[in-house]
Amino acid sequence: MGVAAKIAPSMLSSDFANLASEAHRMLKDGADWLHMDIMDGHFVPNLTLGAPVIQSLRKHTEAYLDCHLMVTNPLDYVEPLAKAGASGFTFHVEVSKDNWQELVQRIKSKGMTPGVALKPGTPIEEVFPLVEGEIHVDMVLVMTVEPGFGGQKFMPETMDKVRTLRKKYPSLDIEVDGGLGPSTIDIAASAGANCIVAGSSVFGSPEPAKVISVLRTSVEESQKK
Ligand code: DX5
Ligand code: ZN
Repeated sequence: MGVAAKIAPSMLSSDFANLASEAHRMLKDGADWLHMDIMDGHFVPNLTLGAPVIQSLRKHTEAYLDCHLMVTNPLDYVEPLAKAGASGFTFHVEVSKDNWQELVQRIKSKGMTPGVALKPGTPIEEVFPLVEGEIHVDMVLVMTVEPGFGGQKFMPETMDKVRTLRKKYPSLDIEVDGGLGPSTIDIAASAGANCIVAGSSVFGSPEPAKVISVLRTSVEESQKK
């Protein structure tokens, strides 16, 4: 028995001017979660959206909003995002080494699901304490590109980290993000990823439902092996 497949289109690749209809389109096409990339122009050289946009979208959908915080001070975002209606709150380990316990505790106390993300160059050992602690995260997001932009090339060398995690934690939610699509899903799924973020491959396709279904089938088939 494996962990459930969650396919999460990255709304970064959607038409922001029509966010609600883009979200509805993805859900109708089979998305489990909506991946929301929050950037501060500091942790990464790009600026996207924050709590006000999450709040606006929340009025149009009850879907799980999987928020990926590419920001230097994630603690500052807990309260506003909880109020806005975020579901998952995934922060980066690179900026949370000193306060992750407080951060996880606050995220949970606000009713959100805590996750930790790591950049391609960050060793996997850095997230072990966050998974194993008494107060712990429920998901690890292994970045498969450098965070900041959609449409980049998948980095297969990050798969060692996914394999290590899956071996150590058979029932952990492991998310991959960056360059995922029909041509890269099999390597990620067989390494053990079950939560799949996909931006350009889904939004760039004339048939997003088909892409979502290919991603899901790959995760499900890998788990039977
Ligand atoms: C990149 C973001 C990703 C991005 C993925 O920093 O975290 O979620 O939108 O986009 P694709 O699937 O196009 O690589
Ligand atoms: Zn992301």
